[in-house]
Amino acid sequence: MKITASYQPYLLVKSQVLVLFSFEEKPIPSEVIAIDHKLNNLVSIASRDEKFQAKYQELLLVNIGKGFNFSRVSLVGLGRRSDFSLLDLQKAIGSAVRFVQKKKVTKMAVVIPNLPAKRYPLQKVTEAMTRSAVLADYQYTEFKTERQELPNNIQELVLISSKKDKKIEKGILEGKIIAEAINHARDYGNQPSNKANPNHLVKMAQKLAEIPRVRCRVLEKEAMEKLKMGGVLGVAQGAKHPPKFIILEYSGRPSKKEWIVLVGKGITFDSGGISIKPSEKMEDMKFDMSGGGAVIGAVEAIAKLRLPLNVVGLVPALENLPSGEAYKPGDVLVSASGKTIEVITTDAEGRIVLADALHYASRYKPKAIIDLATLTGFCIIALGTQASGLFGNNAKLIKKVKEASEISGERVWELPLWPEYNELLKSDVADLKNSGGKEAGVITGAAFLIRFVNNYPWAHLDIAGTAWNLEEKTYLGKGATGYGVQLLVELMREW
Ligand code: BES
Ligand code: MN
Ligand code: ZN
Repeated sequence: MKITASYQPYLLVKSQVLVLFSFEEKPIPSEVIAIDHKLNNLVSIASRDEKFQAKYQELLLVNIGKGFNFSRVSLVGLGRRSDFSLLDLQKAIGSAVRFVQKKKVTKMAVVIPNLPAKRYPLQKVTEAMTRSAVLADYQYTEFKTERQELPNNIQELVLISSKKDKKIEKGILEGKIIAEAINHARDYGNQPSNKANPNHLVKMAQKLAEIPRVRCRVLEKEAMEKLKMGGVLGVAQGAKHPPKFIILEYSGRPSKKEWIVLVGKGITFDSGGISIKPSEKMEDMKFDMSGGGAVIGAVEAIAKLRLPLNVVGLVPALENLPSGEAYKPGDVLVSASGKTIEVITTDAEGRIVLADALHYASRYKPKAIIDLATLTGFCIIALGTQASGLFGNNAKLIKKVKEASEISGERVWELPLWPEYNELLKSDVADLKNSGGKEAGVITGAAFLIRFVNNYPWAHLDIAGTAWNLEEKTYLGKGATGYGVQLLVELMREW
């Protein structure tokens, strides 16, 4: 999508549809009243006929016929001014994009709403608008050959402002960077596992090394053997594709030797292994690399935004499959930390793999470790699809994650991690077991992970319920959401 700013009067901007936002207090914005007589009062007539009240997300589309630079005017309701937040504007422009897409519109112009600049800095407003337009426009069509059945994509978006301002261009630029990184993460998730296999994630990560100050290294199986990563190697044992351990370093502040480590679960397909999952909905387990995808996407955005800090992304990429060589219930794996893990179920594979990655993170003596993982179905039982489960060992870091989540709109909900939960992971034969059963199932996942953190400030996000949509939700369609990319970007921006 080509996105530009225009500082021309609305009537002069060429597009197929001109979109304006309005509040309930004044359903027809003054910008429209000012031009409506030139449009033969068609907008005010239509809004009266259709009783348009500018309720939140209410849409009005008016055909104004030929003879103008655009053929339709659309009003998008933002509800009451007093209830307004930037997230509402994002949802509103997102719905507008999806609405006009279905009308076969390919070029739209949107008037940047007039908002109090102190609370809503112009750059933030244009960034938010750009971002949600690009996210709403996204469709995963790689394997669709019958394209005529699909809604089209918006080719061009013009953001109109009466005053020229560099902040608008900056907002567009940054909004695009972030949205494209999120859409890349969505691609990795939506791609079937026969396409997005461990090697594919490696290729995607390696491509990011073209960005200045980004370095990509990949530990092959042999290197992992040297590092005694018995967790990753154990889980990968049953698959034909060898495991890959992706290390993506961005040195945005080389003078400081401080690192923040992002860890993402990169199980490109989780069949459950020998403890095989029921076949119903097993296809969704292609999304089990969403944490890893979010980490790769976040590094892309952070590096392209040139944020002044050092971030490393660690993504163990592998499949969990049954075979004659697969790891089995009852097996004991020796993790890279030396801690031994009794395998109760081969379906609790994410935590085993993350154990090695979290231990590897210690090399960086990190200021913080944040991991994202589609770790437990229990998280969906606890929080549904509204929020990720949040855990950690450091109040300051948890607070920062919560603040970033408020900005990004990607909800988190903190759950307890009292030491007593350790009891549930006691093993008769090893240092701990990989499943504590159903009881507090989302928490024991985190209780397992913390044992490999070595006391660095750490936060864990269980994104099982938020990584993909089963149904269209707000302006994101079905499929991968790219959850976490924006949250990590906001966290790093505020760092
Ligand atoms: N990838 C799954 C978790 C999952 C399931 C995410 C459904 C999203 C939707 C994970 O590897 C898993 O299988 N977890 C088990 C753990 C249990 C065996 C301790 C689970 O949650 O059932
Ligand atoms: Mn599993
Ligand atoms: Zn899994």
